[in-house]
Amino acid sequence: FVTEVEEGKDEVRELIQTLEREINWDGTSLIKYVGFWFPVRLFDTGFTDRPPQDLDSAAILPGPDNGLSLFKPILSAQKYFKAKDTDIILSTLPKSGTTWLIPLTFCIVNRHTYPIAQSPLLTSSPHTIVPFLELNLYWEQTNPDLENIPSPRIFSTHMPFNVLPDSIRESECKILYMCRNPLDHFISYRQFLLKNKIEKDAKPLDIDETFDMFCQGIQLYGPFWEHVLGYWNAHLKNPEKVLFLKYEDLKMETTLYIKKIAEFIGFPFSLEEEEQGLIEEISNFCSFENISNLEANKKGKFMGIVENSSFFRKGEIGDWKNYLTPEMAERVKELMESKLEDLV
Ligand code: A3P
Repeated sequence: FVTEVEEGKDEVRELIQTLEREINWDGTSLIKYVGFWFPVRLFDTGFTDRPPQDLDSAAILPGPDNGLSLFKPILSAQKYFKAKDTDIILSTLPKSGTTWLIPLTFCIVNRHTYPIAQSPLLTSSPHTIVPFLELNLYWEQTNPDLENIPSPRIFSTHMPFNVLPDSIRESECKILYMCRNPLDHFISYRQFLLKNKIEKDAKPLDIDETFDMFCQGIQLYGPFWEHVLGYWNAHLKNPEKVLFLKYEDLKMETTLYIKKIAEFIGFPFSLEEEEQGLIEEISNFCSFENISNLEANKKGKFMGIVENSSFFRKGEIGDWKNYLTPEMAERVKELMESKLEDLV
C-alpha cells in the first residue's frame, strides 16, 4: 500500500475518498484512518514559505483535498523506519509538553558530551535537535538515512501506539509517553491552532463547538482517550518498554521525574552527579522560563510555517479554568471516568 501511496496512485486517492471525514477545530479537514484522525492536508498550498523539501510531496498532492499529506510520511515511517534497541522515542499527543520532554531527555542523555553551557539547545529549537518521525524526517524524504545518527538516537512522534512502525514496538527501544490533563491539553491545542492558522481560508470553530468535538474524540491524532489508552495499555503490558508520564507530575516534581526518566532510559545519575546538583541544573535549564526565553525559541518556524514561539505559551497547570465552565469540566471528568477508569 505504501508504494501506491508514494506513487500517488488513483486507487489510493479513491480509497481515501471513502474514509470518514470531519472538520477540525480550526476549520481544516480530517480523515479517520485506523481509528484516529489525521489531516487531509497539512499545509495550505497558498503558503509561499513552504519548505523546499515539501515540494517533493507536493508533487503528488496536486488537489486541495487529496488526503495523502500525513499518510505518506506515516506510511513511509511504517515501512522504512528501523528502530535500534538503543533508540529513545518520545511520544505525545500534540500540546502535552513534547517541547519540554525533548530538552529534558536530550540533556540527560548528552550530559557528558554537552555540558549545559555548550548545549545545542542554546542555539536551536528543541524540534530541530530532536526531529519528529512523521512531521520532519519522513515528511522531508520517503526513506531518510538515519543509520549514521550516533546512538542513542532520539526521535519524537505523535503517532498513536498502534500506528507506530512495527520495529519500534518489536525492538528493545524505549518509549517515553507523556500525557496531560485533558482540559489543559484542550485549551493549549485550541490556542495553538488559533495562533497558527494552518490554512489561511479555514474558519476556526467557536469554543463550544470545538469542545463538543473534543468530547466526541474529533481532533488531530485523536481521540484523546484512545491515544492515551493505547500507550497506557502498552505500559501495563511492558513497563520496561513504555514509561507513562504525566505533565502535571513533571511540573510538580521535576527533579524526581528527571531521575526516573534517566534510570528508565539507562542513563542513571551517579551519587556524585546528584551531589554536584546536575539534576537541578538540567531542571532549571529546561524550565519554561529559561528555555522559552532563548533566542532560538523566540524566532524561526517549525516546518516553515509554525512559529517556534507558539510551542511556548504559559506552561502552567490549570489554565483551562480561564476558558471553560465547571459544567464543561464535569463532562470531561465523566468521560475520563468512563474511558480511562484505570488511570483516574
Ligand atoms: P500551554 O499552551 O498550556 O502553555 P507541545 O510541546 O506538546 O506542543 O506542548 C506545548 C505545551 O507545553 C504548551 O502548553 C507549552 O507552553 C508547554 N511547554 C513548552 N515547554 C515547556 C517547558 N519547558 N515546561 C513546561 N511546559 C512547557
